[in-house]
Amino acid sequence: MPGTIQLQMKKILVTGGCGYIGSHTIVDLIENGFDVISIDDNSRSTDYAIKGIEKITGKKIKNYTIDLKDYHATRSVFSENTDITGIIHFAAFKAVGESVEKPLMYYENNMFSLINLLNCVKEFNIPYFVFSSSCTVYGSPDIIPVTEQSPTKPAESPYGATKQMGERMIEDISKAEKVNTILLRYFNPVGAHPSIEIGELPLGKPMNLVPAITQTAIGKLPKMLVYGTDYDTRDGSCVRDYIHVSDIAHAHTLALQYLIDGRNKTKCDTFNLGSGNGVTVLEAIRMFEEVSGIKLNYEIGPRRPGDVVAIYANNNYAVESLGWKTKYDLREMMRSAWEWEKKLKTATDLTK
Ligand code: WQD
Repeated sequence: MPGTIQLQMKKILVTGGCGYIGSHTIVDLIENGFDVISIDDNSRSTDYAIKGIEKITGKKIKNYTIDLKDYHATRSVFSENTDITGIIHFAAFKAVGESVEKPLMYYENNMFSLINLLNCVKEFNIPYFVFSSSCTVYGSPDIIPVTEQSPTKPAESPYGATKQMGERMIEDISKAEKVNTILLRYFNPVGAHPSIEIGELPLGKPMNLVPAITQTAIGKLPKMLVYGTDYDTRDGSCVRDYIHVSDIAHAHTLALQYLIDGRNKTKCDTFNLGSGNGVTVLEAIRMFEEVSGIKLNYEIGPRRPGDVVAIYANNNYAVESLGWKTKYDLREMMRSAWEWEKKLKTATDLTK
Protein backbone atom coordinates (compact mmCIF):
# COMPACT_ATOMS: atom_id res chain seq x y z
CA MET A 1 0.00 0.00 0.00
CA PRO A 2 1.53 3.42 -0.99
CA GLY A 3 2.64 5.65 1.89
CA THR A 4 2.95 2.87 4.49
CA ILE A 5 6.18 1.08 5.12
CA GLN A 6 5.57 -2.54 5.98
CA LEU A 7 8.20 -3.16 8.62
CA GLN A 8 9.99 -6.30 7.49
CA MET A 9 9.11 -8.75 10.29
CA LYS A 10 12.29 -10.57 11.23
CA LYS A 11 11.73 -14.26 10.64
CA ILE A 12 13.28 -16.52 13.28
CA LEU A 13 13.67 -20.29 12.99
CA VAL A 14 13.17 -22.02 16.35
CA THR A 15 14.22 -25.68 16.42
CA GLY A 16 12.43 -27.72 19.08
CA GLY A 17 9.54 -25.27 18.95
CA CYS A 18 7.09 -27.89 20.33
CA GLY A 19 9.26 -28.39 23.39
CA TYR A 20 9.15 -26.79 26.83
CA ILE A 21 11.53 -23.84 26.45
CA GLY A 22 11.10 -23.63 22.68
CA SER A 23 7.33 -23.10 22.89
CA HIS A 24 7.64 -20.44 25.59
CA THR A 25 10.31 -18.67 23.53
CA ILE A 26 8.09 -18.64 20.42
CA VAL A 27 5.39 -16.87 22.46
CA ASP A 28 7.88 -14.25 23.63
CA LEU A 29 9.33 -13.71 20.16
CA ILE A 30 5.88 -13.16 18.66
CA GLU A 31 4.89 -10.80 21.47
CA ASN A 32 8.02 -8.81 20.64
CA GLY A 33 7.28 -8.46 16.94
CA PHE A 34 9.17 -11.37 15.40
CA ASP A 35 7.77 -13.81 12.83
CA VAL A 36 8.53 -17.43 13.79
CA ILE A 37 8.70 -20.85 12.15
CA SER A 38 9.56 -24.08 13.97
CA ILE A 39 11.29 -27.36 13.16
CA ASP A 40 10.35 -30.15 15.55
CA ASP A 41 10.11 -33.85 14.63
CA ASN A 42 7.85 -34.46 17.65
CA SER A 43 10.03 -37.39 18.71
CA ARG A 44 9.92 -35.98 22.26
CA SER A 45 6.94 -33.65 21.96
CA THR A 46 3.48 -33.29 20.45
CA ASP A 47 1.78 -30.43 18.58
CA TYR A 48 -0.14 -29.62 21.77
CA ALA A 49 2.31 -26.78 22.40
CA ILE A 50 1.68 -25.29 18.94
CA LYS A 51 -2.05 -25.12 19.74
CA GLY A 52 -1.23 -23.44 23.05
CA ILE A 53 1.05 -20.89 21.34
CA GLU A 54 -1.73 -20.09 18.88
CA LYS A 55 -4.24 -19.62 21.72
CA ILE A 56 -1.89 -17.20 23.51
CA THR A 57 -0.69 -15.18 20.51
CA GLY A 58 -3.57 -15.57 18.03
CA LYS A 59 -0.90 -16.40 15.43
CA LYS A 60 -0.71 -19.54 13.31
CA ILE A 61 2.68 -21.24 13.69
CA LYS A 62 4.20 -23.34 10.91
CA ASN A 63 6.04 -26.34 12.38
CA TYR A 64 8.11 -28.49 10.00
CA THR A 65 7.99 -32.00 11.47
CA ILE A 66 11.34 -33.05 10.07
CA ASP A 67 14.34 -34.76 11.64
CA LEU A 68 17.31 -32.39 11.82
CA LYS A 69 19.59 -35.41 11.33
CA ASP A 70 18.18 -35.51 7.76
CA TYR A 71 20.33 -32.90 6.04
CA HIS A 72 18.27 -32.63 2.86
CA ALA A 73 15.01 -32.23 4.77
CA THR A 74 16.64 -29.61 7.00
CA ARG A 75 18.08 -27.77 3.99
CA SER A 76 14.66 -27.70 2.31
CA VAL A 77 13.31 -25.50 5.12
CA PHE A 78 15.97 -22.90 4.37
CA SER A 79 15.42 -22.99 0.61
CA GLU A 80 11.68 -22.54 1.27
CA ASN A 81 12.27 -19.68 3.76
CA THR A 82 14.98 -17.48 2.29
CA ASP A 83 14.10 -14.67 4.77
CA ILE A 84 15.27 -16.43 7.95
CA THR A 85 17.16 -13.77 9.95
CA GLY A 86 18.16 -15.85 12.96
CA ILE A 87 18.05 -19.32 14.49
CA ILE A 88 17.44 -20.38 18.08
CA HIS A 89 18.46 -24.02 18.44
CA PHE A 90 16.71 -25.95 21.23
CA ALA A 91 16.11 -29.35 19.59
CA ALA A 92 18.18 -31.97 21.42
CA PHE A 93 17.78 -34.93 23.72
CA LYS A 94 18.30 -33.77 27.31
CA ALA A 95 17.79 -36.60 29.80
CA VAL A 96 21.01 -37.01 31.76
CA GLY A 97 20.33 -40.58 32.89
CA GLU A 98 19.20 -41.74 29.44
CA SER A 99 22.35 -40.24 27.93
CA VAL A 100 24.49 -42.43 30.21
CA GLU A 101 22.57 -45.54 29.07
CA LYS A 102 22.50 -44.55 25.36
CA PRO A 103 25.53 -42.32 24.63
CA LEU A 104 25.65 -43.12 20.90
CA MET A 105 22.02 -42.05 20.46
CA TYR A 106 22.81 -38.77 22.24
CA TYR A 107 25.98 -37.99 20.28
CA GLU A 108 24.30 -38.87 16.99
CA ASN A 109 21.13 -36.89 17.65
CA ASN A 110 22.53 -33.82 19.33
CA MET A 111 25.68 -33.43 17.23
CA PHE A 112 24.45 -34.44 13.77
CA SER A 113 21.48 -32.06 14.05
CA LEU A 114 23.74 -29.19 15.12
CA ILE A 115 26.22 -29.83 12.30
CA ASN A 116 23.42 -29.95 9.72
CA LEU A 117 22.05 -26.67 11.00
CA LEU A 118 25.45 -25.00 10.97
CA ASN A 119 26.01 -26.14 7.38
CA CYS A 120 22.73 -24.43 6.48
CA VAL A 121 23.80 -21.31 8.41
CA LYS A 122 26.91 -21.19 6.22
CA GLU A 123 25.19 -21.96 2.90
CA PHE A 124 22.30 -19.53 3.45
CA ASN A 125 24.34 -16.81 5.21
CA ILE A 126 22.17 -16.77 8.35
CA PRO A 127 23.60 -13.88 10.41
CA TYR A 128 22.50 -14.81 13.96
CA PHE A 129 22.53 -18.12 15.88
CA VAL A 130 21.53 -18.65 19.53
CA PHE A 131 22.40 -21.98 21.19
CA SER A 132 20.56 -23.64 24.07
CA SER A 133 23.27 -24.66 26.49
CA SER A 134 23.24 -25.61 30.15
CA CYS A 135 24.83 -24.97 33.54
CA THR A 136 25.78 -28.63 33.28
CA VAL A 137 28.96 -27.45 31.56
CA TYR A 138 30.22 -26.16 34.95
CA GLY A 139 30.01 -29.64 36.52
CA SER A 140 30.36 -29.38 40.29
CA PRO A 141 31.72 -25.83 40.78
CA ASP A 142 34.37 -25.09 43.42
CA ILE A 143 33.09 -21.54 43.85
CA ILE A 144 29.43 -20.41 43.73
CA PRO A 145 27.71 -18.47 42.38
CA VAL A 146 29.19 -19.29 38.96
CA THR A 147 29.99 -16.61 36.41
CA GLU A 148 30.49 -17.13 32.65
CA GLN A 149 34.23 -17.17 33.40
CA SER A 150 33.92 -19.97 35.96
CA PRO A 151 35.86 -22.99 34.73
CA THR A 152 33.92 -25.66 32.89
CA LYS A 153 34.59 -29.19 34.09
CA PRO A 154 34.66 -32.52 32.22
CA ALA A 155 31.02 -33.34 31.60
CA GLU A 156 29.57 -35.93 33.98
CA SER A 157 27.21 -37.30 31.33
CA PRO A 158 27.11 -37.68 27.53
CA TYR A 159 24.28 -35.14 27.57
CA GLY A 160 26.55 -32.60 29.23
CA ALA A 161 29.33 -33.51 26.80
CA THR A 162 27.08 -32.71 23.83
CA LYS A 163 26.48 -29.25 25.28
CA GLN A 164 30.20 -28.66 25.83
CA MET A 165 31.07 -29.89 22.34
CA GLY A 166 28.24 -27.85 20.87
CA GLU A 167 29.57 -24.70 22.52
CA ARG A 168 33.09 -25.33 21.18
CA MET A 169 31.84 -26.06 17.65
CA ILE A 170 29.77 -22.89 17.56
CA GLU A 171 32.65 -20.78 18.91
CA ASP A 172 35.04 -22.13 16.26
CA ILE A 173 32.53 -21.67 13.43
CA SER A 174 31.66 -18.12 14.53
CA LYS A 175 35.37 -17.26 14.15
CA ALA A 176 35.63 -18.78 10.66
CA GLU A 177 32.25 -17.73 9.22
CA LYS A 178 30.15 -14.56 9.11
CA VAL A 179 27.55 -15.71 11.66
CA ASN A 180 27.34 -14.00 15.09
CA THR A 181 26.42 -16.39 17.90
CA ILE A 182 25.33 -16.55 21.53
CA LEU A 183 25.52 -19.42 24.03
CA LEU A 184 22.82 -19.37 26.72
CA ARG A 185 23.55 -21.53 29.77
CA TYR A 186 20.25 -22.37 31.50
CA PHE A 187 20.12 -23.26 35.15
CA ASN A 188 16.91 -25.06 36.19
CA PRO A 189 13.93 -23.97 34.07
CA VAL A 190 10.60 -24.60 35.86
CA GLY A 191 7.01 -23.40 35.83
CA ALA A 192 4.53 -22.68 33.04
CA HIS A 193 3.36 -19.67 31.01
CA PRO A 194 1.07 -17.49 33.18
CA SER A 195 -1.84 -18.28 30.82
CA ILE A 196 -1.41 -22.00 31.66
CA GLU A 197 -1.88 -22.71 27.93
CA ILE A 198 1.66 -24.15 27.62
CA GLY A 199 4.00 -25.84 30.09
CA GLU A 200 6.31 -28.78 30.56
CA LEU A 201 5.17 -32.11 29.09
CA PRO A 202 7.56 -34.68 30.57
CA LEU A 203 7.34 -37.99 28.75
CA GLY A 204 7.28 -40.98 31.11
CA LYS A 205 8.42 -40.85 34.75
CA PRO A 206 9.70 -37.33 35.48
CA MET A 207 13.40 -37.05 36.29
CA ASN A 208 13.33 -33.37 37.26
CA LEU A 209 12.29 -32.07 40.67
CA VAL A 210 9.30 -29.85 39.89
CA PRO A 211 7.41 -32.27 37.64
CA ALA A 212 8.09 -34.98 40.25
CA ILE A 213 6.57 -32.70 42.90
CA THR A 214 3.46 -31.79 40.89
CA GLN A 215 2.85 -35.36 39.65
CA THR A 216 3.11 -36.65 43.22
CA ALA A 217 0.76 -33.91 44.46
CA ILE A 218 -1.86 -34.72 41.82
CA GLY A 219 -1.62 -38.46 42.44
CA LYS A 220 0.06 -39.55 39.20
CA LEU A 221 2.98 -40.76 41.37
CA PRO A 222 2.33 -42.39 44.77
CA LYS A 223 5.23 -40.56 46.40
CA MET A 224 8.55 -38.95 45.56
CA LEU A 225 12.03 -39.29 46.98
CA VAL A 226 14.29 -36.46 48.08
CA TYR A 227 17.66 -37.68 46.86
CA GLY A 228 19.73 -37.09 49.96
CA THR A 229 19.63 -34.66 52.86
CA ASP A 230 23.14 -35.39 54.10
CA TYR A 231 24.94 -32.84 51.93
CA ASP A 232 26.98 -29.95 53.30
CA THR A 233 24.24 -27.34 52.65
CA ARG A 234 21.99 -25.29 54.96
CA ASP A 235 19.40 -28.05 55.27
CA GLY A 236 21.33 -31.00 53.86
CA SER A 237 19.56 -31.09 50.49
CA CYS A 238 21.04 -29.95 47.16
CA VAL A 239 21.01 -26.31 46.08
CA ARG A 240 19.86 -25.27 42.61
CA ASP A 241 18.98 -22.07 40.74
CA TYR A 242 15.34 -22.44 39.69
CA ILE A 243 14.31 -19.98 36.99
CA HIS A 244 10.88 -19.42 35.47
CA VAL A 245 10.66 -20.72 31.92
CA SER A 246 9.06 -17.45 30.74
CA ASP A 247 12.06 -15.51 32.09
CA ILE A 248 14.35 -17.88 30.19
CA ALA A 249 12.21 -17.36 27.07
CA HIS A 250 12.42 -13.57 27.23
CA ALA A 251 16.20 -13.75 27.53
CA HIS A 252 16.27 -15.40 24.08
CA THR A 253 14.37 -12.52 22.53
CA LEU A 254 16.72 -10.04 24.19
CA ALA A 255 19.75 -12.07 23.05
CA LEU A 256 18.58 -11.99 19.43
CA GLN A 257 17.92 -8.24 19.62
CA TYR A 258 21.41 -7.81 21.14
CA LEU A 259 22.91 -9.50 18.06
CA ILE A 260 20.67 -7.64 15.61
CA ASP A 261 21.66 -4.33 17.23
CA GLY A 262 25.33 -5.31 16.86
CA ARG A 263 25.93 -4.93 20.62
CA ASN A 264 27.74 -8.26 20.92
CA LYS A 265 31.28 -7.99 22.29
CA THR A 266 32.59 -11.08 20.52
CA LYS A 267 31.25 -13.37 17.80
CA CYS A 268 30.32 -15.90 20.49
CA ASP A 269 29.11 -14.25 23.72
CA THR A 270 28.03 -16.50 26.60
CA PHE A 271 25.38 -15.75 29.24
CA ASN A 272 24.22 -17.49 32.42
CA LEU A 273 20.43 -17.67 32.58
CA GLY A 274 19.68 -18.21 36.24
CA SER A 275 17.74 -16.24 38.85
CA GLY A 276 20.87 -15.76 40.94
CA ASN A 277 19.14 -17.42 43.92
CA GLY A 278 20.16 -20.78 45.38
CA VAL A 279 17.22 -22.83 46.67
CA THR A 280 17.42 -26.24 48.37
CA VAL A 281 15.20 -29.18 47.45
CA LEU A 282 13.43 -29.01 50.81
CA GLU A 283 12.86 -25.27 50.43
CA ALA A 284 11.36 -25.86 46.97
CA ILE A 285 9.04 -28.50 48.40
CA ARG A 286 8.00 -26.20 51.23
CA MET A 287 7.20 -23.41 48.77
CA PHE A 288 5.09 -25.83 46.72
CA GLU A 289 3.19 -26.94 49.84
CA GLU A 290 2.54 -23.30 50.80
CA VAL A 291 1.31 -22.38 47.30
CA SER A 292 -0.82 -25.48 46.74
CA GLY A 293 -2.02 -26.08 50.30
CA ILE A 294 -1.06 -29.73 49.79
CA LYS A 295 1.17 -31.74 52.14
CA LEU A 296 3.53 -33.47 49.72
CA ASN A 297 4.06 -37.23 50.13
CA TYR A 298 7.86 -37.55 50.03
CA GLU A 299 10.50 -39.63 51.71
CA ILE A 300 14.21 -39.02 52.15
CA GLY A 301 16.06 -41.41 49.86
CA PRO A 302 19.70 -42.05 48.96
CA ARG A 303 21.77 -39.57 47.02
CA ARG A 304 21.36 -39.61 43.20
CA PRO A 305 24.68 -40.45 41.51
CA GLY A 306 26.09 -37.50 39.57
CA ASP A 307 24.15 -34.86 41.46
CA VAL A 308 25.95 -31.56 41.96
CA VAL A 309 25.78 -30.50 45.65
CA ALA A 310 25.21 -26.83 45.00
CA ILE A 311 25.14 -24.51 41.99
CA TYR A 312 23.52 -21.20 41.24
CA ALA A 313 24.23 -18.34 38.86
CA ASN A 314 25.84 -14.97 38.96
CA ASN A 315 23.60 -13.51 36.23
CA ASN A 316 24.99 -9.96 36.25
CA TYR A 317 26.42 -10.19 32.72
CA ALA A 318 23.02 -11.10 31.22
CA VAL A 319 21.25 -8.45 33.32
CA GLU A 320 23.69 -5.71 32.32
CA SER A 321 24.34 -6.65 28.66
CA LEU A 322 20.92 -7.93 27.59
CA GLY A 323 18.85 -5.68 29.82
CA TRP A 324 17.33 -8.88 31.20
CA LYS A 325 15.31 -8.69 34.44
CA THR A 326 13.64 -11.81 35.86
CA LYS A 327 9.92 -11.22 36.49
CA TYR A 328 8.85 -14.40 38.33
CA ASP A 329 9.81 -15.63 41.80
CA LEU A 330 9.81 -19.15 43.25
CA ARG A 331 6.21 -18.74 44.42
CA GLU A 332 5.02 -18.04 40.84
CA MET A 333 7.17 -20.88 39.51
CA MET A 334 5.42 -23.32 41.84
CA ARG A 335 1.96 -21.77 41.31
CA SER A 336 2.14 -22.00 37.53
CA ALA A 337 3.66 -25.50 37.62
CA TRP A 338 0.81 -26.67 39.86
CA GLU A 339 -1.91 -24.98 37.76
CA TRP A 340 -0.40 -26.59 34.64
CA GLU A 341 -0.35 -30.06 36.26
CA LYS A 342 -4.03 -29.67 37.16
CA LYS A 343 -4.80 -28.64 33.59
CA LEU A 344 -2.96 -31.70 32.21
CA LYS A 345 -5.21 -33.92 34.33
CA THR A 346 -8.21 -32.82 32.28
CA ALA A 347 -6.43 -32.40 28.92
CA THR A 348 -7.71 -34.87 26.33
CA ASP A 349 -5.85 -33.70 23.20
CA LEU A 350 -2.36 -34.52 24.43
CA THR A 351 -1.88 -37.47 22.08
CA LYS A 352 0.18 -36.94 18.97
C1 WQD B 1 17.20 -30.92 40.97
C2 WQD B 1 17.40 -31.39 42.41
C3 WQD B 1 17.89 -33.71 42.63
C4 WQD B 1 13.99 -35.26 41.39
C5 WQD B 1 18.85 -31.13 35.30
C6 WQD B 1 19.78 -31.45 34.19
C7 WQD B 1 20.45 -30.18 33.72
C8 WQD B 1 19.41 -29.15 33.37
C9 WQD B 1 18.48 -28.90 34.56
C10 WQD B 1 18.98 -29.25 31.01
C11 WQD B 1 18.56 -32.37 42.55
C12 WQD B 1 16.57 -33.36 43.31
C13 WQD B 1 15.03 -34.39 41.69
C14 WQD B 1 13.40 -36.04 42.44
C15 WQD B 1 14.92 -35.04 44.01
N1 WQD B 1 18.64 -29.58 32.26
N2 WQD B 1 15.48 -34.29 42.98
N3 WQD B 1 13.90 -35.88 43.71
O1 WQD B 1 19.74 -32.47 38.05
O2 WQD B 1 19.80 -30.01 38.73
O3 WQD B 1 19.58 -30.60 36.36
O4 WQD B 1 17.90 -30.16 34.90
O5 WQD B 1 19.82 -28.51 30.64
O6 WQD B 1 21.21 -30.52 32.59
O7 WQD B 1 20.74 -32.32 34.71
O8 WQD B 1 17.68 -31.01 37.91
O9 WQD B 1 15.35 -31.30 38.61
O10 WQD B 1 16.72 -33.38 38.08
O11 WQD B 1 17.19 -32.09 40.16
O12 WQD B 1 15.34 -34.95 45.17
O13 WQD B 1 12.44 -36.86 42.23
O14 WQD B 1 16.23 -32.09 42.82
O15 WQD B 1 18.62 -34.64 43.42
O16 WQD B 1 19.22 -32.12 43.78
P1 WQD B 1 19.28 -31.08 37.85
P2 WQD B 1 16.66 -32.00 38.64
